[in-house]
Amino acid sequence: MTQSKPTILIVDDEVRSLEALERNLTDEFDVQIAETTKEAEQILADHWVQIILCDQRMPDKSGVEFLTEVREKWPDVIRIIISGYTDAGDIISGLNEAGIYYYVTKPWHPEKLILTLRNAVSMFELQRQNELLAIELRLSERTAKKKMSDGRQKLRKQYSFDDGIVRSKSSPMNAICDTLSQVAPYDLSVLITGESGTGKELAARAIHYNSLRWNKSFAVQKCSAVPQAVLESELFGHRRGAIAGAVQDQTGLFERAYGGTILLDEVCDLSPAFQVKLLRVVQDGEFRPIGSNQTKKTDIRLLVSSYKNLENEVREGRFRKDLYFRLAGVTVSIPPLRDRREDIPLLANFLLKQAMTDIGKEVAGFSAEAISCMKRYAWPGNVREIQNEIERMLVMGKEHDFLGADLLSPKVLMEASPEREDDLSLVTTTTRTLKERVEAVEIKILRESLIRHRWNKSKASRELGLSRVGLRGKLDRYHLEKEEEQDKVDEIGK
Ligand SMILES: Nc1ncnc2c1ncn2[C@@H]1O[C@H](COP(=O)(O)OP(=O)(O)OP(=O)(O)O)[C@@H](O)[C@H]1O
Ligand SMILES: [Mg+2]
Repeated sequence: MTQSKPTILIVDDEVRSLEALERNLTDEFDVQIAETTKEAEQILADHWVQIILCDQRMPDKSGVEFLTEVREKWPDVIRIIISGYTDAGDIISGLNEAGIYYYVTKPWHPEKLILTLRNAVSMFELQRQNELLAIELRLSERTAKKKMSDGRQKLRKQYSFDDGIVRSKSSPMNAICDTLSQVAPYDLSVLITGESGTGKELAARAIHYNSLRWNKSFAVQKCSAVPQAVLESELFGHRRGAIAGAVQDQTGLFERAYGGTILLDEVCDLSPAFQVKLLRVVQDGEFRPIGSNQTKKTDIRLLVSSYKNLENEVREGRFRKDLYFRLAGVTVSIPPLRDRREDIPLLANFLLKQAMTDIGKEVAGFSAEAISCMKRYAWPGNVREIQNEIERMLVMGKEHDFLGADLLSPKVLMEASPEREDDLSLVTTTTRTLKERVEAVEIKILRESLIRHRWNKSKASRELGLSRVGLRGKLDRYHLEKEEEQDKVDEIGK
Protein backbone atom coordinates (compact mmCIF):
# COMPACT_ATOMS: atom_id res chain seq x y z
CA MET A 1 0.00 0.00 0.00
CA THR A 2 1.17 3.53 -0.71
CA GLN A 3 2.21 5.74 2.12
CA SER A 4 0.19 8.70 0.79
CA LYS A 5 -1.71 10.86 3.24
CA PRO A 6 -5.16 9.73 4.25
CA THR A 7 -7.95 11.61 2.54
CA ILE A 8 -10.36 13.61 4.62
CA LEU A 9 -13.44 15.38 3.33
CA ILE A 10 -14.70 18.44 5.19
CA VAL A 11 -18.26 19.52 4.59
CA ASP A 12 -19.28 22.91 5.95
CA ASP A 13 -21.30 25.74 4.46
CA GLU A 14 -19.26 28.37 6.33
CA VAL A 15 -16.22 29.17 4.27
CA ARG A 16 -14.19 30.54 7.18
CA SER A 17 -14.76 27.48 9.23
CA LEU A 18 -13.74 25.33 6.25
CA GLU A 19 -10.55 27.29 5.77
CA ALA A 20 -9.60 27.03 9.42
CA LEU A 21 -10.02 23.28 9.35
CA GLU A 22 -8.14 22.92 6.10
CA ARG A 23 -5.23 24.99 7.40
CA ASN A 24 -4.86 22.85 10.46
CA LEU A 25 -5.21 19.51 8.79
CA THR A 26 -3.38 19.94 5.54
CA ASP A 27 0.03 18.84 6.86
CA GLU A 28 -1.18 15.43 7.81
CA PHE A 29 -4.09 14.81 5.50
CA ASP A 30 -5.07 15.14 1.91
CA VAL A 31 -7.90 17.59 2.55
CA GLN A 32 -10.92 17.83 0.27
CA ILE A 33 -13.51 20.49 0.96
CA ALA A 34 -17.17 20.88 0.07
CA GLU A 35 -19.55 23.70 0.82
CA THR A 36 -22.65 21.71 -0.03
CA THR A 37 -23.69 18.10 0.37
CA LYS A 38 -23.99 17.83 -3.39
CA GLU A 39 -20.35 18.77 -3.84
CA ALA A 40 -19.47 16.37 -1.06
CA GLU A 41 -21.21 13.50 -2.83
CA GLN A 42 -19.27 14.20 -5.99
CA ILE A 43 -15.99 14.12 -4.07
CA LEU A 44 -16.96 10.86 -2.38
CA ALA A 45 -17.70 9.38 -5.77
CA ASP A 46 -14.39 10.52 -7.26
CA HIS A 47 -11.96 10.02 -4.39
CA TRP A 48 -11.13 7.28 -1.99
CA VAL A 49 -12.14 9.17 1.17
CA GLN A 50 -11.31 7.65 4.55
CA ILE A 51 -12.86 10.22 6.86
CA ILE A 52 -15.68 12.67 6.48
CA LEU A 53 -15.94 15.57 8.84
CA CYS A 54 -19.33 17.20 8.52
CA ASP A 55 -20.94 20.22 10.09
CA GLN A 56 -24.31 19.55 11.69
CA ARG A 57 -25.99 22.79 10.66
CA MET A 58 -26.22 23.20 6.93
CA PRO A 59 -28.91 24.87 4.82
CA ASP A 60 -30.12 21.91 2.76
CA LYS A 61 -29.96 19.10 5.29
CA SER A 62 -28.49 18.36 8.70
CA GLY A 63 -25.09 16.72 9.07
CA VAL A 64 -26.68 13.63 10.61
CA GLU A 65 -29.12 13.31 7.71
CA PHE A 66 -26.33 13.62 5.21
CA LEU A 67 -24.08 11.16 7.02
CA THR A 68 -26.95 8.67 7.14
CA GLU A 69 -27.05 8.82 3.34
CA VAL A 70 -23.27 8.58 3.16
CA ARG A 71 -23.40 5.47 5.31
CA GLU A 72 -25.68 3.76 2.84
CA LYS A 73 -23.54 4.52 -0.19
CA TRP A 74 -20.05 4.50 1.31
CA PRO A 75 -20.35 2.45 4.51
CA ASP A 76 -16.59 2.22 5.06
CA VAL A 77 -15.98 5.96 5.45
CA ILE A 78 -15.48 6.98 9.08
CA ARG A 79 -18.10 9.61 9.84
CA ILE A 80 -17.47 12.47 12.26
CA ILE A 81 -19.81 15.32 13.00
CA ILE A 82 -18.93 18.85 14.09
CA SER A 83 -21.42 20.99 15.86
CA GLY A 84 -21.21 24.51 17.16
CA TYR A 85 -24.51 24.59 18.94
CA THR A 86 -25.85 22.87 21.92
CA ASP A 87 -27.98 20.68 19.76
CA ALA A 88 -26.50 17.49 21.16
CA GLY A 89 -30.03 16.12 21.55
CA ASP A 90 -30.64 16.17 17.77
CA ILE A 91 -27.31 14.61 17.09
CA ILE A 92 -27.53 11.88 19.66
CA SER A 93 -30.92 10.78 18.39
CA GLY A 94 -29.39 10.43 14.93
CA LEU A 95 -26.06 8.91 15.93
CA ASN A 96 -27.15 5.33 15.44
CA GLU A 97 -28.71 5.81 12.05
CA ALA A 98 -25.73 7.68 10.73
CA GLY A 99 -23.25 5.36 12.48
CA ILE A 100 -21.20 8.33 13.71
CA TYR A 101 -17.74 7.53 14.99
CA TYR A 102 -17.15 10.74 16.89
CA TYR A 103 -18.77 14.06 17.55
CA VAL A 104 -16.60 17.14 17.83
CA THR A 105 -17.87 20.32 19.45
CA LYS A 106 -16.96 23.82 18.34
CA PRO A 107 -14.73 25.55 19.20
CA TRP A 108 -12.39 22.69 18.51
CA HIS A 109 -8.85 22.40 19.72
CA PRO A 110 -6.49 21.74 16.78
CA GLU A 111 -4.28 19.19 18.51
CA LYS A 112 -7.18 17.33 19.99
CA LEU A 113 -8.94 17.28 16.66
CA ILE A 114 -5.87 15.90 14.91
CA LEU A 115 -5.59 13.19 17.54
CA THR A 116 -9.21 12.22 17.01
CA LEU A 117 -8.66 12.10 13.27
CA ARG A 118 -5.54 9.98 13.62
CA ASN A 119 -7.55 7.51 15.64
CA ALA A 120 -10.22 7.57 12.99
CA VAL A 121 -7.63 6.76 10.33
CA SER A 122 -6.38 3.76 12.27
CA MET A 123 -9.97 2.72 12.80
CA PHE A 124 -10.51 2.89 9.04
CA GLU A 125 -7.39 0.85 8.39
CA LEU A 126 -8.33 -1.74 10.98
CA GLN A 127 -11.81 -2.04 9.63
CA ARG A 128 -10.45 -2.48 6.14
CA GLN A 129 -7.77 -4.94 7.10
CA ASN A 130 -10.21 -6.89 9.18
CA GLU A 131 -12.54 -7.17 6.26
CA LEU A 132 -9.81 -8.14 3.85
CA LEU A 133 -8.35 -10.61 6.27
CA ALA A 134 -11.69 -12.19 6.87
CA ILE A 135 -12.07 -12.76 3.17
CA GLU A 136 -8.50 -13.66 2.53
CA LEU A 137 -8.39 -16.26 5.27
CA ARG A 138 -11.40 -17.99 3.89
CA LEU A 139 -10.47 -17.86 0.27
CA SER A 140 -9.46 -21.01 -1.53
CA GLU A 141 -5.78 -21.74 -1.13
CA ARG A 142 -4.99 -20.75 -4.68
CA THR A 143 -6.76 -17.44 -4.63
CA ALA A 144 -5.53 -16.53 -1.18
CA LYS A 145 -2.01 -16.45 -2.54
CA LYS A 146 -2.93 -13.64 -4.86
CA LYS A 147 -2.97 -10.02 -3.85
CA MET A 148 -6.33 -8.46 -3.30
CA SER A 149 -5.07 -5.34 -5.04
CA ASP A 150 -7.61 -5.05 -7.81
CA GLY A 151 -10.37 -5.62 -5.32
CA ARG A 152 -13.57 -7.44 -5.67
CA GLN A 153 -14.27 -6.37 -9.24
CA LYS A 154 -11.50 -8.68 -10.29
CA LEU A 155 -12.91 -11.45 -8.15
CA ARG A 156 -16.26 -10.83 -9.69
CA LYS A 157 -14.87 -11.32 -13.15
CA GLN A 158 -12.86 -14.30 -12.05
CA TYR A 159 -15.97 -16.03 -10.80
CA SER A 160 -18.30 -15.01 -13.59
CA PHE A 161 -20.21 -17.90 -15.10
CA ASP A 162 -18.58 -17.36 -18.48
CA ASP A 163 -14.95 -17.08 -17.40
CA GLY A 164 -14.84 -18.77 -14.03
CA ILE A 165 -16.47 -22.13 -14.63
CA VAL A 166 -14.61 -23.62 -17.54
CA ARG A 167 -16.61 -26.00 -19.73
CA SER A 168 -17.08 -26.99 -23.35
CA LYS A 169 -20.00 -26.05 -25.59
CA SER A 170 -21.64 -29.43 -25.18
CA SER A 171 -20.91 -29.85 -21.48
CA PRO A 172 -23.60 -30.87 -18.99
CA MET A 173 -22.12 -28.02 -16.92
CA ASN A 174 -23.93 -25.58 -19.22
CA ALA A 175 -27.31 -26.51 -17.77
CA ILE A 176 -25.86 -26.29 -14.26
CA CYS A 177 -24.47 -22.81 -14.93
CA ASP A 178 -27.83 -21.71 -16.33
CA THR A 179 -29.51 -22.76 -13.10
CA LEU A 180 -26.81 -21.13 -10.98
CA SER A 181 -27.09 -17.85 -12.84
CA GLN A 182 -30.87 -17.93 -12.53
CA VAL A 183 -30.85 -18.41 -8.77
CA ALA A 184 -27.81 -16.21 -8.05
CA PRO A 185 -29.62 -12.84 -7.78
CA TYR A 186 -32.26 -14.14 -5.37
CA ASP A 187 -31.55 -14.63 -1.72
CA LEU A 188 -32.34 -18.32 -1.92
CA SER A 189 -30.35 -20.92 -0.09
CA VAL A 190 -28.75 -23.36 -2.52
CA LEU A 191 -27.61 -26.90 -1.87
CA ILE A 192 -24.69 -27.92 -4.05
CA THR A 193 -23.92 -31.61 -4.23
CA GLY A 194 -21.22 -33.50 -6.05
CA GLU A 195 -18.25 -35.77 -5.56
CA SER A 196 -15.09 -34.41 -4.00
CA GLY A 197 -13.23 -31.96 -6.21
CA THR A 198 -16.03 -31.41 -8.73
CA GLY A 199 -16.16 -27.65 -8.17
CA LYS A 200 -18.80 -27.17 -5.46
CA GLU A 201 -16.97 -24.33 -3.79
CA LEU A 202 -16.33 -22.71 -7.15
CA ALA A 203 -20.06 -22.86 -7.89
CA ALA A 204 -20.78 -21.23 -4.52
CA ARG A 205 -18.34 -18.41 -5.25
CA ALA A 206 -19.91 -17.90 -8.65
CA ILE A 207 -23.33 -17.55 -7.00
CA HIS A 208 -21.98 -15.01 -4.53
CA TYR A 209 -20.13 -12.88 -7.05
CA ASN A 210 -23.17 -12.83 -9.32
CA SER A 211 -25.57 -11.86 -6.56
CA LEU A 212 -26.44 -8.49 -5.08
CA ARG A 213 -24.15 -9.36 -2.20
CA TRP A 214 -21.10 -9.53 -4.45
CA ASN A 215 -19.33 -6.60 -2.81
CA LYS A 216 -19.65 -8.10 0.65
CA SER A 217 -17.68 -11.01 2.11
CA PHE A 218 -17.81 -14.57 0.91
CA ALA A 219 -16.74 -17.07 3.54
CA VAL A 220 -16.44 -20.84 3.68
CA GLN A 221 -16.95 -22.81 6.86
CA LYS A 222 -16.16 -26.50 6.84
CA CYS A 223 -18.61 -28.51 8.95
CA SER A 224 -16.90 -31.90 8.96
CA ALA A 225 -14.06 -32.91 11.23
CA VAL A 226 -14.57 -29.77 13.36
CA PRO A 227 -15.65 -30.22 17.00
CA GLN A 228 -19.04 -28.69 17.61
CA ALA A 229 -17.72 -26.17 20.16
CA VAL A 230 -15.18 -24.87 17.67
CA LEU A 231 -17.73 -24.68 14.90
CA GLU A 232 -20.15 -22.85 17.14
CA SER A 233 -17.55 -20.36 18.19
CA GLU A 234 -16.42 -19.86 14.57
CA LEU A 235 -19.92 -19.10 13.39
CA PHE A 236 -21.53 -17.46 16.44
CA GLY A 237 -18.47 -16.01 18.18
CA HIS A 238 -17.87 -16.13 21.91
CA ARG A 239 -17.38 -13.91 24.91
CA ARG A 240 -14.14 -13.89 26.81
CA GLY A 241 -13.94 -16.85 29.18
CA ALA A 242 -17.05 -18.51 27.75
CA ILE A 243 -15.08 -21.50 26.52
CA ALA A 244 -11.73 -22.94 27.48
CA GLY A 245 -8.87 -20.87 26.13
CA ALA A 246 -11.07 -17.94 25.12
CA VAL A 247 -8.92 -15.09 26.40
CA GLN A 248 -10.81 -12.48 24.48
CA ASP A 249 -14.12 -11.89 22.76
CA GLN A 250 -14.32 -13.32 19.29
CA THR A 251 -16.70 -12.15 16.62
CA GLY A 252 -18.35 -14.99 14.76
CA LEU A 253 -18.67 -15.39 11.02
CA PHE A 254 -22.39 -14.64 11.13
CA GLU A 255 -21.44 -11.17 12.30
CA ARG A 256 -18.24 -10.63 10.36
CA ALA A 257 -19.76 -11.65 7.06
CA TYR A 258 -22.85 -9.50 7.67
CA GLY A 259 -24.52 -8.75 4.38
CA GLY A 260 -22.46 -11.41 2.60
CA THR A 261 -22.61 -15.11 1.81
CA ILE A 262 -21.41 -18.12 3.80
CA LEU A 263 -20.84 -21.55 2.33
CA LEU A 264 -21.36 -24.27 4.90
CA ASP A 265 -19.17 -26.95 3.43
CA GLU A 266 -20.03 -30.60 4.02
CA VAL A 267 -23.16 -29.66 5.91
CA CYS A 268 -24.16 -33.35 5.93
CA ASP A 269 -21.70 -33.89 8.78
CA LEU A 270 -23.33 -31.42 11.21
CA SER A 271 -24.19 -32.95 14.57
CA PRO A 272 -27.91 -33.20 15.47
CA ALA A 273 -27.43 -30.65 18.27
CA PHE A 274 -25.84 -28.16 15.93
CA GLN A 275 -28.54 -28.70 13.36
CA VAL A 276 -31.04 -27.37 15.93
CA LYS A 277 -28.94 -24.27 16.52
CA LEU A 278 -28.54 -23.64 12.82
CA LEU A 279 -32.26 -24.05 12.26
CA ARG A 280 -32.86 -21.24 14.72
CA VAL A 281 -30.53 -18.94 12.83
CA VAL A 282 -32.08 -19.81 9.51
CA GLN A 283 -35.63 -19.36 10.79
CA ASP A 284 -35.26 -16.23 12.90
CA GLY A 285 -32.17 -14.60 11.44
CA GLU A 286 -30.84 -14.33 14.98
CA PHE A 287 -28.05 -15.89 16.98
CA ARG A 288 -26.29 -15.52 20.27
CA PRO A 289 -22.50 -15.60 20.76
CA ILE A 290 -21.41 -18.27 23.25
CA GLY A 291 -21.51 -16.87 26.76
CA SER A 292 -23.49 -13.80 25.79
CA ASN A 293 -27.07 -13.05 26.70
CA GLN A 294 -27.44 -10.64 23.84
CA THR A 295 -29.20 -11.80 20.71
CA LYS A 296 -27.76 -10.51 17.47
CA LYS A 297 -29.35 -10.16 14.06
CA THR A 298 -27.64 -11.60 11.05
CA ASP A 299 -28.03 -10.94 7.35
CA ILE A 300 -26.39 -13.78 5.50
CA ARG A 301 -27.14 -15.83 2.45
CA LEU A 302 -26.41 -19.43 3.24
CA LEU A 303 -25.15 -21.82 0.63
CA VAL A 304 -24.47 -25.40 1.60
CA SER A 305 -22.54 -28.20 0.02
CA SER A 306 -22.68 -31.90 0.65
CA TYR A 307 -20.77 -34.85 -0.71
CA LYS A 308 -23.46 -37.18 0.65
CA ASN A 309 -26.98 -37.39 -0.69
CA LEU A 310 -28.74 -35.14 1.83
CA GLU A 311 -32.19 -36.50 1.04
CA ASN A 312 -30.91 -39.92 1.99
CA GLU A 313 -29.52 -38.52 5.22
CA VAL A 314 -32.99 -37.11 5.98
CA ARG A 315 -34.63 -40.43 5.18
CA GLU A 316 -32.23 -42.25 7.47
CA GLY A 317 -32.88 -39.75 10.26
CA ARG A 318 -29.38 -38.29 10.34
CA PHE A 319 -30.35 -34.86 9.02
CA ARG A 320 -33.32 -32.79 10.18
CA LYS A 321 -36.08 -32.57 7.62
CA ASP A 322 -37.07 -29.01 8.58
CA LEU A 323 -33.48 -27.83 8.23
CA TYR A 324 -33.13 -29.66 4.94
CA PHE A 325 -36.13 -27.84 3.49
CA ARG A 326 -34.76 -24.52 4.66
CA LEU A 327 -31.32 -25.13 3.19
CA ALA A 328 -32.18 -26.93 -0.01
CA GLY A 329 -34.19 -24.08 -1.56
CA VAL A 330 -32.66 -25.12 -4.83
CA THR A 331 -30.43 -28.15 -5.35
CA VAL A 332 -27.68 -28.29 -7.91
CA SER A 333 -25.71 -31.47 -8.58
CA ILE A 334 -22.34 -31.11 -10.22
CA PRO A 335 -21.50 -34.13 -12.37
CA PRO A 336 -18.17 -35.92 -11.93
CA LEU A 337 -15.48 -35.13 -14.48
CA ARG A 338 -15.69 -38.62 -16.03
CA ASP A 339 -19.26 -37.77 -17.11
CA ARG A 340 -18.10 -34.64 -18.94
CA ARG A 341 -14.86 -35.73 -20.56
CA GLU A 342 -15.47 -33.24 -23.37
CA ASP A 343 -14.52 -30.52 -20.86
CA ILE A 344 -11.07 -32.01 -20.24
CA PRO A 345 -9.06 -30.30 -23.03
CA LEU A 346 -10.35 -26.81 -22.18
CA LEU A 347 -10.11 -27.40 -18.47
CA ALA A 348 -6.58 -28.82 -18.73
CA ASN A 349 -5.37 -25.78 -20.65
CA PHE A 350 -7.08 -23.41 -18.24
CA LEU A 351 -5.57 -25.15 -15.22
CA LEU A 352 -2.17 -25.19 -16.93
CA LYS A 353 -2.31 -21.42 -17.38
CA GLN A 354 -3.25 -21.01 -13.74
CA ALA A 355 -0.43 -23.29 -12.66
CA MET A 356 2.08 -21.40 -14.82
CA THR A 357 1.13 -18.16 -13.08
CA ASP A 358 1.30 -19.77 -9.65
CA ILE A 359 4.54 -21.62 -10.19
CA GLY A 360 6.15 -19.01 -12.45
CA LYS A 361 7.17 -21.39 -15.21
CA GLU A 362 6.16 -21.23 -18.87
CA VAL A 363 5.46 -24.11 -21.21
CA ALA A 364 3.94 -24.17 -24.68
CA GLY A 365 0.99 -26.44 -23.89
CA PHE A 366 0.19 -30.15 -23.92
CA SER A 367 0.95 -32.71 -26.58
CA ALA A 368 -2.19 -34.11 -28.18
CA GLU A 369 -1.26 -37.51 -26.78
CA ALA A 370 -1.24 -36.08 -23.26
CA ILE A 371 -4.69 -34.63 -23.79
CA SER A 372 -6.12 -37.84 -25.17
CA CYS A 373 -4.68 -39.83 -22.26
CA MET A 374 -6.23 -37.34 -19.86
CA LYS A 375 -9.56 -37.71 -21.59
CA ARG A 376 -9.50 -41.46 -21.12
CA TYR A 377 -8.72 -41.49 -17.41
CA ALA A 378 -11.67 -41.52 -15.00
CA TRP A 379 -10.36 -38.87 -12.53
CA PRO A 380 -11.95 -40.16 -9.30
CA GLY A 381 -10.70 -36.99 -7.58
CA ASN A 382 -12.28 -34.90 -10.35
CA VAL A 383 -11.05 -31.39 -11.18
CA ARG A 384 -8.87 -31.19 -8.10
CA GLU A 385 -7.07 -34.37 -9.16
CA ILE A 386 -6.44 -33.17 -12.71
CA GLN A 387 -5.28 -29.85 -11.26
CA ASN A 388 -2.69 -31.63 -9.10
CA GLU A 389 -1.62 -33.80 -12.00
CA ILE A 390 -1.08 -30.74 -14.21
CA GLU A 391 0.90 -28.90 -11.54
CA ARG A 392 3.14 -31.93 -11.20
CA MET A 393 3.57 -32.22 -14.98
CA LEU A 394 4.49 -28.55 -15.17
CA VAL A 395 7.12 -28.91 -12.46
CA MET A 396 8.63 -31.97 -14.15
CA GLY A 397 8.35 -30.67 -17.73
CA LYS A 398 10.89 -28.76 -19.77
CA GLU A 399 10.48 -25.00 -19.82
CA HIS A 400 8.95 -23.59 -23.07
CA ASP A 401 8.37 -27.12 -24.41
CA PHE A 402 5.14 -29.09 -24.75
CA LEU A 403 4.10 -31.28 -21.84
CA GLY A 404 4.04 -34.81 -23.19
CA ALA A 405 2.04 -37.85 -22.12
CA ASP A 406 5.24 -39.33 -20.69
CA LEU A 407 4.88 -36.85 -17.82
CA LEU A 408 1.51 -38.24 -16.75
CA SER A 409 1.44 -40.52 -13.75
CA PRO A 410 1.26 -44.28 -14.39
CA LYS A 411 -2.28 -44.51 -13.04
CA VAL A 412 -3.43 -42.14 -15.81
CA LEU A 413 -1.44 -43.93 -18.50
CA MET A 414 -2.75 -47.32 -17.41
CA GLU A 415 -6.20 -46.17 -18.37
CA ALA A 416 -5.01 -44.76 -21.61
CA SER A 417 -6.30 -47.63 -23.77
CA PRO A 418 -9.04 -46.53 -26.12
CA GLU A 419 -11.41 -49.25 -24.85
CA ARG A 420 -11.54 -47.31 -21.62
CA GLU A 421 -12.48 -50.15 -19.33
CA ASP A 422 -11.65 -49.86 -15.70
CA ASP A 423 -9.10 -52.29 -14.34
CA LEU A 424 -11.45 -54.14 -12.07
CA SER A 425 -14.14 -54.95 -14.61
CA LEU A 426 -11.44 -56.09 -16.98
CA VAL A 427 -10.12 -58.65 -14.55
CA THR A 428 -13.39 -59.75 -12.99
CA THR A 429 -15.58 -59.89 -16.07
CA THR A 430 -17.09 -63.33 -16.68
CA THR A 431 -17.86 -62.77 -20.34
CA ARG A 432 -14.28 -63.20 -21.47
CA THR A 433 -11.84 -66.06 -21.39
CA LEU A 434 -8.78 -66.06 -19.17
CA LYS A 435 -6.59 -65.45 -22.22
CA GLU A 436 -8.60 -62.41 -23.26
CA ARG A 437 -8.53 -61.01 -19.76
CA VAL A 438 -4.78 -61.44 -19.40
CA GLU A 439 -4.25 -59.90 -22.83
CA ALA A 440 -6.35 -56.86 -21.97
CA VAL A 441 -4.16 -56.23 -18.94
CA GLU A 442 -1.06 -56.83 -21.05
CA ILE A 443 -2.17 -54.17 -23.54
CA LYS A 444 -2.57 -51.66 -20.74
CA ILE A 445 0.91 -52.36 -19.41
CA LEU A 446 2.52 -52.17 -22.84
CA ARG A 447 0.80 -48.90 -23.69
CA GLU A 448 1.71 -47.33 -20.35
CA SER A 449 5.36 -48.21 -20.73
CA LEU A 450 5.54 -47.06 -24.35
CA ILE A 451 3.94 -43.69 -23.67
CA ARG A 452 6.21 -43.11 -20.72
CA HIS A 453 9.24 -43.83 -22.91
CA ARG A 454 7.87 -41.64 -25.69
CA TRP A 455 7.41 -44.74 -27.89
CA ASN A 456 11.10 -45.54 -27.69
CA LYS A 457 10.90 -49.30 -28.19
CA SER A 458 14.41 -50.11 -26.97
CA LYS A 459 13.76 -48.46 -23.62
CA ALA A 460 10.32 -49.99 -23.25
CA SER A 461 11.48 -53.49 -24.14
CA ARG A 462 14.36 -53.20 -21.68
CA GLU A 463 12.04 -52.13 -18.92
CA LEU A 464 9.52 -54.87 -19.68
CA GLY A 465 12.17 -57.58 -19.94
CA LEU A 466 11.39 -58.28 -23.57
CA SER A 467 13.61 -58.47 -26.62
CA ARG A 468 13.01 -55.81 -29.26
CA VAL A 469 11.65 -58.49 -31.55
CA GLY A 470 9.41 -59.81 -28.78
CA LEU A 471 7.99 -56.36 -28.20
CA ARG A 472 7.52 -55.78 -31.92
CA GLY A 473 5.57 -59.03 -32.13
CA LYS A 474 3.24 -58.02 -29.34
CA LEU A 475 2.66 -54.59 -30.82
CA ASP A 476 1.74 -56.14 -34.16
CA ARG A 477 -0.54 -58.67 -32.53
CA TYR A 478 -2.42 -56.04 -30.54
CA HIS A 479 -2.27 -53.38 -33.29
CA LEU A 480 -0.65 -51.05 -30.82
CA GLU A 481 0.89 -48.00 -32.33
CA LYS A 482 1.23 -44.32 -31.68
CA GLU A 483 -1.86 -42.65 -33.00
CA GLU A 484 -1.14 -40.31 -35.93
CA GLU A 485 -2.93 -37.34 -34.51
CA GLN A 486 -1.02 -37.70 -31.28
CA ASP A 487 1.99 -36.17 -32.92
CA LYS A 488 0.11 -32.92 -32.96
CA VAL A 489 0.19 -30.57 -30.07
CA ASP A 490 -2.42 -28.67 -28.16
CA GLU A 491 -1.18 -25.16 -27.74
CA ILE A 492 -2.50 -23.08 -24.95
CA GLY A 493 -5.08 -20.51 -25.86
CA LYS A 494 -5.82 -22.08 -29.25
N1 LIG B 1 -15.24 -25.91 -14.13
C1 LIG B 1 -14.13 -25.47 -13.53
N2 LIG B 1 -13.39 -24.53 -14.11
C2 LIG B 1 -12.26 -24.08 -13.54
N3 LIG B 1 -11.78 -24.52 -12.38
C3 LIG B 1 -12.48 -25.46 -11.74
C4 LIG B 1 -13.69 -25.98 -12.27
N4 LIG B 1 -14.18 -26.89 -11.41
C5 LIG B 1 -13.32 -26.94 -10.38
N5 LIG B 1 -12.29 -26.08 -10.56
C6 LIG B 1 -11.14 -25.89 -9.66
O1 LIG B 1 -10.85 -27.15 -9.07
C7 LIG B 1 -10.52 -27.03 -7.70
C8 LIG B 1 -11.49 -27.83 -6.86
O2 LIG B 1 -12.77 -27.24 -6.90
P1 LIG B 1 -13.64 -26.97 -5.58
O3 LIG B 1 -12.78 -26.69 -4.41
O4 LIG B 1 -14.68 -25.97 -5.93
O5 LIG B 1 -14.29 -28.40 -5.45
P2 LIG B 1 -15.19 -29.01 -4.28
O6 LIG B 1 -16.26 -29.77 -4.95
O7 LIG B 1 -15.58 -27.95 -3.33
O8 LIG B 1 -14.14 -30.00 -3.64
P3 LIG B 1 -14.17 -30.72 -2.20
O9 LIG B 1 -15.30 -31.68 -2.24
O10 LIG B 1 -12.84 -31.40 -2.17
O11 LIG B 1 -14.33 -29.65 -1.20
C9 LIG B 1 -10.56 -25.55 -7.39
O12 LIG B 1 -9.27 -25.03 -7.51
C10 LIG B 1 -11.46 -24.98 -8.49
O13 LIG B 1 -11.17 -23.64 -8.76
MG1 LIG C 1 -15.12 -27.85 -1.26
